Amino acid sequence: MLKKILTGAAIAALAVGLGACSSTRPADGGAAAGGSGECNVGIAMPTRSLERWINDGEQLQQKLSDAGCTVDLQYADNKTDQQISQIQNQISGGAKILVIAAIDGSTLGPVLEEAKAQNATVIAYDRLINGSENVDYYATFDNYKVGTLQGQYIEEQLGLKDGAGPFNLEPFAGSPDDNNAKFFFAGAWDVLQPYVEKGQLVVPSGKSPANDDAWASIGIQGWASDKAQAEMDNRLSSFYGDGKKVNVVLSPNDSLAIGIEASLKSAGYTAGTDYPIITGQDADKANVKAILEGTQAMTVWKDTRALGDRVFEMIQQIKDGDEVEVNDTETYDNGEKVVPSFLLTPEVVVKDDVQSKLIDSGFLKASDVGL
Ligand code: BGC
Repeated sequence: MLKKILTGAAIAALAVGLGACSSTRPADGGAAAGGSGECNVGIAMPTRSLERWINDGEQLQQKLSDAGCTVDLQYADNKTDQQISQIQNQISGGAKILVIAAIDGSTLGPVLEEAKAQNATVIAYDRLINGSENVDYYATFDNYKVGTLQGQYIEEQLGLKDGAGPFNLEPFAGSPDDNNAKFFFAGAWDVLQPYVEKGQLVVPSGKSPANDDAWASIGIQGWASDKAQAEMDNRLSSFYGDGKKVNVVLSPNDSLAIGIEASLKSAGYTAGTDYPIITGQDADKANVKAILEGTQAMTVWKDTRALGDRVFEMIQQIKDGDEVEVNDTETYDNGEKVVPSFLLTPEVVVKDDVQSKLIDSGFLKASDVGL
């Protein structure tokens, strides 16, 4: 709605503003309850095991520290209890703003009560926090669109609109405790399921959710590569005898894709014409290498720097008691309220885009991906 383009000068002014941490108070508590002028921020990230969270956390920490804020950055090894106690520590350390990428978006209600008791503002980062009215804002990429891009890529590559098929599809979904996973799946399945119904896509394993709401039946807990690999091993050994081949795998992200690719490799699949189309998300280094080598077709790139910039700006607005810019006030109902959200736009990266989108923009170094 109100996307502001910040000039370099405006960014500098913002940095000075944050650094100064003025004592201006908001006219009233209102939505910007943290408008105390204090810049004490707790950042809670899920895990260091995935590249994107390392980048997300460290970039935001750096930006905030450069601007003079007190920042505490924590990673919780994908363990909910650990994340809750980290957030509790941040609260007792005086955090006025909490930026949380939840591990399990439904378990943070009680700790957010504690946050509210000290008038801290809570920003759900990338993943929505459910079942709590104490979530003030949500900053993320358009999660449904991520899935749509994966589904449309498959649709185009296989010529499904022109009636091509049948093709053997194996769909996967993300972690059942991650609110994003259902959006990713719904975006893709809304494109692909009509072709399953028409018989242009066939799912030999039978792991074909009857509708969007049944997505968790094929979810991979914790987004774990090894669990995705084991699941794919199972499907290949149980349903792909007699030379039957997988033509396409809907993988919601790169960590699952890595496991699926390892499984295909041990079953004898090699890059080339008979290799299945595999989707992904995040543009992790190993997956971008796989794209260059032909063992993954695409990834949906979410420039985490842009998400960090957006949250940095939200923090500035909260600190100053200003109205916080959002561009979606309808989509993300967490069961207690519709959380005002800022959605950024994801984009597809295929082999030919690696240089222009990922390397020229500085997101990855050429040497990261063997170029
Ligand atoms: C994020 C993805 C990520 C996945 C696994 C999701 O919530 O949006 O970018 O691949 O979690 O960490």
